[in-house]
Amino acid sequence: MSRSAHPAGPRHADVLPEGHYAAPPADLNVLDPKVWSQTVTRAADGAVSVGGIEVARLAEEFGTPAYFLDEADFRARCAAWRDAFGPDADVFYAGKAFLSRAVVRWLHEEGLNLDVCSGGELSTALSAGMPAERIAFHGNNKTEEEIERAVEAGVGRIVLDSFQEIVRVAHIADRLGKRQRVQIRVTVGVEAHTHEFIATAHEDQKFGIALAGGQAAEAVRRALKLDGLELIGIHSHIGSQIFDMAGFEVAARRVVGLLAEIRDEHGVELPEIDLGGGLGIAYTSDDDPREPHEIAKALNEIVTRECEAASLRTPRISVEPGRAIVGPTAFTLYTVGTVKPLDGLRTYVSVDGGMSDNIRTALYDAEYTVALVSRRSDAEPALVRVVGKHCESGDIVVKDAFLPADVAPGDLIAVPATGAYCRSMASNYNHALRPPVVAVRDGAARVIVRRETEEDLLRLDVG
Ligand code: LLP
Repeated sequence: MSRSAHPAGPRHADVLPEGHYAAPPADLNVLDPKVWSQTVTRAADGAVSVGGIEVARLAEEFGTPAYFLDEADFRARCAAWRDAFGPDADVFYAGKAFLSRAVVRWLHEEGLNLDVCSGGELSTALSAGMPAERIAFHGNNKTEEEIERAVEAGVGRIVLDSFQEIVRVAHIADRLGKRQRVQIRVTVGVEAHTHEFIATAHEDQKFGIALAGGQAAEAVRRALKLDGLELIGIHSHIGSQIFDMAGFEVAARRVVGLLAEIRDEHGVELPEIDLGGGLGIAYTSDDDPREPHEIAKALNEIVTRECEAASLRTPRISVEPGRAIVGPTAFTLYTVGTVKPLDGLRTYVSVDGGMSDNIRTALYDAEYTVALVSRRSDAEPALVRVVGKHCESGDIVVKDAFLPADVAPGDLIAVPATGAYCRSMASNYNHALRPPVVAVRDGAARVIVRRETEEDLLRLDVG
């Protein structure tokens, strides 16, 4: 591995171009435990390990780019959420963040439930043995075939997202001679403080049925009349990567308000509410996420208080964290291919992946950090942009970060907190082969999703 220094690029805070980044950290060799998974450590010689295995060994065995998932950390996060909410609530892991059969088995073993939002996720869940009654089925436009499979399998709940779907699910359940447990997803009119594309509870977007104007109350009226449906509760998901509990507070208040209206109009107290997912994680050292026990305490208090005020029995609460469980558990490992210092600007470090394995930076302006993980370096910090190998200038993995100025081709660099929405949103752009996901635990590493091959690509191309 080359350790040669490259020509001088911009290095110190006093010569940094304008941009959105913090000053370089005091020591680039220190890995902030906030953004790296639990078992990541750096030895005195600078080599970084996860689950007791050095990244250089992992790169040799599995290649790069690759996602390495810290299984112990994943399980610990599941347990933290499960224990924080206790036996009187339900935690549904949101499979869209990342789903594989190994993950389904871990969830099952750790006592979590699973939220799926497509036939593909449903098949993955069922094929890995998740009991159907522990699955929630979501989506704003489920196909008839998906609904049929879900009802047939006996999923614990289908979350209804439109007036059409209320009728569609009821008919399918009737036809199959079943009564399907359902929730109605409502939009509570909260403007979540997050990127527009991942905010979901304001009115002008595609999800849910608005509380405003009595739409949600009308949906409840219709659902209660249909024999094929057992309406068990109301669902709200306000968006993603949220740190502030204020949005959840407003959502809970409005959902409980609807429960009170339902009680007054129909004489029924719905037994459940689901407050969705969306809890933020630390992508960089500037983020300060809340711990599951703080979140559980806050949500329980809000719901209990609102129910007492409305003289309602406190419903069973469920939540659907995806990112907060899997996000921090994985990093993407890349090999540096080229290093281009641009005088007075920054140094472009090109890696062997890019927007095909992490679209979040291009799509949401997401922030990430990066570290040199194959060796120690005491070179001064250089402002870098980590870019991929795709034919697009927006192909940016890490927009602004610092690496040692001697970063060079052949070095291994890693981007932490890529467990959520990176492999699951990966693409074959430029016919890139989607990287593998390797689970690492107690000195053993195993592929849980294998790397794609050119054969895989050609198999789909039927000529
Ligand atoms: N429940 C529902 C109904 C959802 O729609 C979502 C996410 C979740 C739970 C889980 O949210 P989480 O806890 O993971 O934030 N691709 C975007 C995120 C889209 C989230 C869609 N729904 C990203 O990369 O940030």
